[in-house]
Amino acid sequence: MAYAAIMGYGVVGSGVFSVLRENAAFIEKQLGMPLSVKRILDLRSFSGGDAAPLLTHDAEDIINDTEINIVVEAMGGLNPAFEYTMRALRAGKHVVSSNKELVSVHGAELMAAAAANHARYMFEASVGGGIPIIRPLKHMLLTESVSQAAGILNGTTNYILSMMREHNAGFDETLKDAQRRGFAERDPSADVDGFDACRKLAILLSICVGRYVNFSKIPTEGISAVTKDDFTFASAAGDTIKLIARADIRDNVIDARVAPMVLSKESPLGVVNGVYNAVSFTFSAIDNILLSGRGAGKYPTAGAIISDMAEALRITEAAPMWSGAEAALSAPGEAIDARMVRMSYTDAQAARDAAERVFQTNDLIWIDAGIPNQTAFFTPPLKESEYDAKIRALSRAPGISVKNSFRLYAVR
Ligand code: HSE
Repeated sequence: MAYAAIMGYGVVGSGVFSVLRENAAFIEKQLGMPLSVKRILDLRSFSGGDAAPLLTHDAEDIINDTEINIVVEAMGGLNPAFEYTMRALRAGKHVVSSNKELVSVHGAELMAAAAANHARYMFEASVGGGIPIIRPLKHMLLTESVSQAAGILNGTTNYILSMMREHNAGFDETLKDAQRRGFAERDPSADVDGFDACRKLAILLSICVGRYVNFSKIPTEGISAVTKDDFTFASAAGDTIKLIARADIRDNVIDARVAPMVLSKESPLGVVNGVYNAVSFTFSAIDNILLSGRGAGKYPTAGAIISDMAEALRITEAAPMWSGAEAALSAPGEAIDARMVRMSYTDAQAARDAAERVFQTNDLIWIDAGIPNQTAFFTPPLKESEYDAKIRALSRAPGISVKNSFRLYAVR
């Protein structure tokens, strides 16, 4: 049995509690033991619900409880998070954190304290929300060094910029929306002025070079000067504007910057919109990799924390990743997909009528590509077996020949 405590019951802490509850059976199976939350530390009082009986206002209830072997620090800020983390590590407890401010300032001391006490200090959730970045980066760094790291590392600002570009939305209303959605920091200047992205870049660079990278020395600009007119001009050039955190590492010297930059809207970072983050690393042999996913939000961040908890608690890394027992795959014919069907015809209207009759709808989406005597349409989502029957019926209609069909990756 593993007992956890959660310090800080805000967006992230409450997300961890609820995901641990919902996935309890799966986590127990994967870990080989139950993982139960014993205490929750928060300054506020709350009543009702499963969390209320676990609430304490006194960190000593956690630090001095020898049964608690892992602590989630989701308090944010430097104080008292630093003191509590240090004391928990010195008491031999693992600490898992989403606190980028703390990691970027005191990461080295805290990791050293963890090592000295046979505990782990882990912080996958401090960079890029739900995206596994630190774990694959460490793995790659076993054999190769990084020459460039570049990415979108703040969900709030990427959400604001995307809404400004796509929906002509105003800055202030979109920031409030991001706050309501639980993306933004308590002090929104940390997001808007680029400091949050800067701290995350510093954490990644510290891992890349194995030395402390001082975030306060990274030139940082925010997004408050970006206007709708800027987007209009960038767009006319086929480009967009993103808050980019980028660093080139040459001969152990780091050239780093956080700033709004113009980039092709078709480029790997240009297509990353909304709360999504992405980061690319350039290695000498592997070349370039891109990691992408939800960069902020209650459940993605909680998921990253819980995966760190599982890794810290895992008894053996050598456990086989699968057994010989065969997993179930869904039966052929049961998969439900929409499709694009391309066909040739002798009479255009007769072909449309036949397709609408066979698919029993007047709402098929038709595609005119300007090829004589050919058309295509998107079907509604259908079971494979139903679709096959309909295509056979369509092929029997006079003057029609079905040429090809593809599953749609996403329903239109
Ligand atoms: N405020 C942060 C962001 C939260 O918007 O990316 C996740 O670190």
